[in-house]
Amino acid sequence: MSFEHLPDGLGIGVPTPRLTWMLPPDAGAQEAYELELARDGRTDRTGRIASSDQLLVAWPGAPLASRERVTVRVRVWATEAGGPSDWSVPSVVEAGLFDAADWHALPVGADRDEDPAADRRPTRVRKDFELHGPVACARLYISAHGLYEAEINGRRVGDEVLAPGWTVYPHRLRYRIHDVTDLLAEGANTIGAWLGDGWYRGKYGFDGGTRNIYGTDQSLIAQLEVTYEDGTTASVATDRTWSAAPGPILTSGLYEGETFDARLHDPGWATPSGADAEEWTPVRTGSRDFGTLVAPMGPPVRCTEEVVPVLVTRTGDDRHLLDFGQNLVGRLCVTLDGAAGTAVTFRHAEVLEEGELATRPLREAYATDTLVLSGQGPLTWEPRFTLHGFRYVEVSGWTDDVTADMVTARVYHTDMRRTGWFECSDPLVNRLHENVVWSMRGNFVDIPTDCPQRDERLGWTGDIQVFAPTASYLYDCVGMLDSWLTDVGLEQLPDGTIPWYVPVIPGEPMWTPIHPGAAWGDVATLTPWTLYQRFGDLDLLRRHYPMAKKWVDLVEGLAGPTRLWNTGFQLGDWLDPAAPPDDPAAGRTDRYLVATAYFAYSARHLALMAAASGSGADAERYGELADEVADAFRHRYVLASGRMTSDSPTAYAVALAFDLLTPSQRQPAGDRLAQLVSEDDACIATGFVGTPLICDALTDTGHLDVAYRLLLQTQCPSWLYTVTMGATTIWERWDSLRPDGTLNPGGMTSFNHYALGAVADWLHRVVGGVTAIEPGYRKIAFHPRPGGGMTWARTRHETPYGTVSLSWEQTVNGLTASMVVPDGCEAIAQLPGCPPITLTPGAHVLNTAELATKAV
Ligand code: BGC
Repeated sequence: MSFEHLPDGLGIGVPTPRLTWMLPPDAGAQEAYELELARDGRTDRTGRIASSDQLLVAWPGAPLASRERVTVRVRVWATEAGGPSDWSVPSVVEAGLFDAADWHALPVGADRDEDPAADRRPTRVRKDFELHGPVACARLYISAHGLYEAEINGRRVGDEVLAPGWTVYPHRLRYRIHDVTDLLAEGANTIGAWLGDGWYRGKYGFDGGTRNIYGTDQSLIAQLEVTYEDGTTASVATDRTWSAAPGPILTSGLYEGETFDARLHDPGWATPSGADAEEWTPVRTGSRDFGTLVAPMGPPVRCTEEVVPVLVTRTGDDRHLLDFGQNLVGRLCVTLDGAAGTAVTFRHAEVLEEGELATRPLREAYATDTLVLSGQGPLTWEPRFTLHGFRYVEVSGWTDDVTADMVTARVYHTDMRRTGWFECSDPLVNRLHENVVWSMRGNFVDIPTDCPQRDERLGWTGDIQVFAPTASYLYDCVGMLDSWLTDVGLEQLPDGTIPWYVPVIPGEPMWTPIHPGAAWGDVATLTPWTLYQRFGDLDLLRRHYPMAKKWVDLVEGLAGPTRLWNTGFQLGDWLDPAAPPDDPAAGRTDRYLVATAYFAYSARHLALMAAASGSGADAERYGELADEVADAFRHRYVLASGRMTSDSPTAYAVALAFDLLTPSQRQPAGDRLAQLVSEDDACIATGFVGTPLICDALTDTGHLDVAYRLLLQTQCPSWLYTVTMGATTIWERWDSLRPDGTLNPGGMTSFNHYALGAVADWLHRVVGGVTAIEPGYRKIAFHPRPGGGMTWARTRHETPYGTVSLSWEQTVNGLTASMVVPDGCEAIAQLPGCPPITLTPGAHVLNTAELATKAV
């Protein structure tokens, strides 16, 4: 049993959490269920409810009160298993704090003069307190202005980093609940927290960045609530009785890195005997509207893997170069034992240039950590409030040998459950897919970012708009993206404009004041729809509907009666390889063709959203609008000859993939697209807009072979070119590293941008052959389309209902496909050259030769 989209039920943020359960093995389809809620000493049952619903089922009882704990069980009646089943293992949901009045904490931080325009030394805060009896249960509700890492009695609370993450802080500041029962003891206790600047007041954003985006304070907000075994309670909250002191972290910034002076570190600082009274001085208290504190909707950022260097090279008397063999996002954990005052510096970069770290692409993100040793024996250290995108690290200031066992790269991202896998007979394609997974991991760090390494790392809306279908297959990212979309809605301007990146921060004049742009702003319509399709969450769709509608209404107004969106600043097919390195928007496709195509597509999706949400009038109105825009698109951008005004692959790809052409125009457009791709020798000629669409446009117009040629091309520019150049993540530019081994000279040259990896969605659906045709994969299409000389492929996805998988193999006797349909779902299998067949839950093996015999 799970609650909303959270991995566990502790700290749910809504009073009526929806419930999801899996059916017992081999149960078949659910016919009815019964829920049981145990709360407050009483047990309520719903009785048998005839329904096949098992995903995000409405809360069946009275709303939860703040802090309330309820134990929930389910039993089911199902077609194969009969019923009722045994009751499920009990699951506990515990409410967070729903009302501002539940909070009595105050933000607390250092009471000292600081220069808000300079780097400020981070603070630690602490408080000693007594507990007067054995503890039955304790909860810590915690957040910060800035970042925090808490300790109780010298032990770390939880394992998440960069908490409380990044939201539109004035409206939504996340807090998290920790069960800290085991960290407390009867008698003397201490709670403390390290603080960092983070997004709240650190320097952030490109072109030199901005400090103090949300405020100048750096404060902890914490409320520890203890229940003794005798039922009485106690509470310790941040208030003026806490103390503050500068810690051993001298400087810290998300981009800059961190400097830690171990000589200043007193490991017992958060224990009852740990406070040197002189150093610790009373805190300054601040204020906060506690109505803005919200519980998380998805998992936190955690370390998910540790990677050891594959190569350590001495490059000087006190210099080493580490190669981790994988471009990743995280930070080092090092163990060193040296003389007091020895300063060891770690600089990070994604690539090398002439054997040295290539730091130019990082722009003003210095990605440099420094550890000053204390001389007190071996020290294991990892920075706390920074993150880097890197494969290589230069270690300087250390004259002894650096050995692989002294250094580990710890990989960090939002700790989503992996749900999607793909593999095929082509090793280069497998590496490409692996690169997509790594780029998703590196850029799903609390919000979906463009890149993880340079002075940007922003929630660019266009990037996730094109990548969301891939992301939703690979990981259970719905909670995280739902949270971020909530912020997109909050940042939407009153006229409906969707910002280029969310959360919004000041940027260069090109982006501020904010103006509407196609493909980026369309995240408002297309991403909620993708999440609904993949995760089956209708409530999510409804909540984001007003944002989507305001966006389409805005564009309708901008287009006016012509229905053509042909005004204003547009990025068009951003990063078309034909665009000059310093002007990535100047691709070969008319930007207004792209804008109008997206207008039609968004209007169509708004109509679909309205229909799914039960708003028939809107469904009709926006359906008509979509027809009108498509009509205007055809008149303006399709010539009588069938060619398009921009005779470019992206123009045909959007027209086909967004279904903007008449039936008679489709085939000639597909043929022209295939011809253009072939004329380019199947090298890529598309950017952010065309790339995610082109393989589908070719597949759907009978040019599967050309789509495979595009996929399998290894010359620059192409997906596999990057792989042959040693890429371990998806690059921002097709030629971030050029064939001669030099870096692209453009100002934006990242080696970890997921957008162009959106082709993985085509790998999953077309090569692998698994598509959701009803929300949440309740109905699945198995439709593998082999090609490109591949002899086998397999893909697997953990749907909300259970595992779906398809594995196909070319044999001497045709193609054999093994498929698994989750309980509660149905599937239509369509193998090459065979008629569609309906499949019920369970495992199936079909062979094309046998099917052909049967058909005869
Ligand atoms: C980002 C992109 C983003 C683009 C928009 C870049 O700096 O890295 O991925 O979508 O700007 O112009």
